[in-house]
Amino acid sequence: MLKRPRRNRISKQIRDLVHEVSIDKTDLVYPMFITEGETEEIQSMPGIYRYSLDDLPKALKDVTEAGITAVLYFGIPKHKDEVGSCAYDDNGIVQRGIRLTKELYPELVVIADICLCEYTSHGHCGVVENGYVQNDKTLELLARASVSCARAGADIVAPSDMMDGRVGAIRNALDENGLEDVLIMSYSVKYSSSFYGPFREAAGSAPAFGDRKTYQMDFRNKKEAILETELDIEEGADIIMVKPAMAYLDIAKAVSDRFCNPLAVYHVSGEYSMIKAAALNGWIDEKSIVIESLTAMKRAGAKMLITYYAPDAARWLEEN
Ligand code: PBG
Repeated sequence: MLKRPRRNRISKQIRDLVHEVSIDKTDLVYPMFITEGETEEIQSMPGIYRYSLDDLPKALKDVTEAGITAVLYFGIPKHKDEVGSCAYDDNGIVQRGIRLTKELYPELVVIADICLCEYTSHGHCGVVENGYVQNDKTLELLARASVSCARAGADIVAPSDMMDGRVGAIRNALDENGLEDVLIMSYSVKYSSSFYGPFREAAGSAPAFGDRKTYQMDFRNKKEAILETELDIEEGADIIMVKPAMAYLDIAKAVSDRFCNPLAVYHVSGEYSMIKAAALNGWIDEKSIVIESLTAMKRAGAKMLITYYAPDAARWLEEN
C-alpha cells in the first residue's frame, strides 16, 4: 500500500506535529452574570453563578488565575420596567461591575452584552408597543446602553438584541461620544433557539408573552446568516458571531469562509447544561467532551469561543 493515513497517527508526537487546529486559552471568553441581589448558583447550570458585586472580585481572581483574558457581562437588575431603564443607567449593576473589574484587572478584556431583555418587565429585547417589538425606537436605547457601558470601561460592546440597524446606531453613538476605540462584537447571526432556556432562568429574562421569533432568526435558514453578517460588517462590526454553536457549525463555517472579520461562536447555556447534566450522571467524560466540542468550533472557523466552560477548559488545557 502506497498510502496509509494511519502513519500520520502512529504516535502522540507525530499526531501533535501534523494536527491542524487546537484551542488556546486566549480564544476563550467567559460569560458572567452580575446581580444586584445575593450571589446564587443557577439551578439549571450547576457551577455557574450570579455574582453580587461583593463576590465579584473573588470570582475574577479565580477566572484570571485560570488564564482567562476576556469576560462577557450580563447585568441582573432589581428594577425592571417597560423600557429597560437600568440598561442605560450609568449607575446600573453592569456598569458598576465593569468599573470594579477595570479597577482590579485593567487588562482583562470586558465585553458588555447589550440588550434590554434582562431589564424589561416584559422580557423582550426592545420597546413593545401594540404587542410588537418596535425596531427603531429600540435603537436609541441600545445606543445609550452601549455608551454607558463603554464609559464605565467596557472594551467591547456586544449587541445581542437582533434589531435591524443596531450596529450602525451604536457605532454612531460611540463615535459621537469620543469612544471610537471601543469595539463592537455583534451577535450578527443569532437564531431563535431553545438552547437559551437555562440563560433565561439565569437572567430572569423569559418573554412574558409570545416569543422572540420576530427578531431572532429562523433556524430553517442559512442564507439569512450571510445577509445579517454582511449588514453588520457594513455598519461597522469589528467581530462577528454565530449563536448557538454546536448545532450551528455549518453556519459558522459558511460565515467564516465568506467574511474576514474574526468570528466568535457562543456555546450557549443549554449546551452547557446538557454536557453538565450528563457529566454529573457519570455518563460522559466531561473534560474530553468539552475540549472536543470547542475544538470542533475552531475547526469550523471560529476564533473566539464564548463558553461557560472557559475557566475549566483553560485549566484542562494546562494539564495536557
Ligand atoms: C440576551 C441574550 C440571550 C443570550 C445571550 N444574550 C438570551 C436570549 O436571547 O433569549 C443567551 C445566552 C445563553 O443561552 O447562554 N438577548
